[in-house]
Amino acid sequence: MKKRFLTSLGVLTFIISAFAAKPALAAGDDLGNAANNYQLYCSMCHGRDGDGKGQLAETLEVPPRNHTDAAYMSKRTDEQLFKTISEGGEATGFNSAMPAHKTILHEDEIHGMVKYLRQLCNCKHTS
Ligand code: HEC
Repeated sequence: MKKRFLTSLGVLTFIISAFAAKPALAAGDDLGNAANNYQLYCSMCHGRDGDGKGQLAETLEVPPRNHTDAAYMSKRTDEQLFKTISEGGEATGFNSAMPAHKTILHEDEIHGMVKYLRQLCNCKHTS
């Protein structure tokens, strides 16, 4: 019994260190933990790759935005994206299914998330 406990403790330590050892983001970019946060807080709707096809997508009235759509995403400013993530869809004229994250994510993390979205679309604001 004790041995089994120790084994599971070992496995747990392994799992935790595997996560902790995840390649740190390249020095100089300030994405922070955005990629992980995206998987935790956004992927169920927006999809693991940001294509808008998350597991919950079909249950929503309005499809979650496809963050890999450069044509669309380049029309949005970073400020607009920040505000929608922070205050939720309703605050910016989008569907209320898009939740507010300001109580979950720190301001810096939301800035990091905007940068991460720019990576997903491989685009910046142009028009
Ligand atoms: C419960 C599902 C759900 C979750 C979770 C969710 N979203 Fe959304 N999101 C939506 C929906 C639905 C829309 C589309 C609203 C519309 O088009 O009216 C949307 C729209 C957006 C937009 C579009 C804003 C624009 O300017 O076009 C952004 C950016 C966005 N989400 C980012 C995120 C990020 C980042 C997260 C995680 C921190 C997240 N969302 C989590 C459902 C979700």
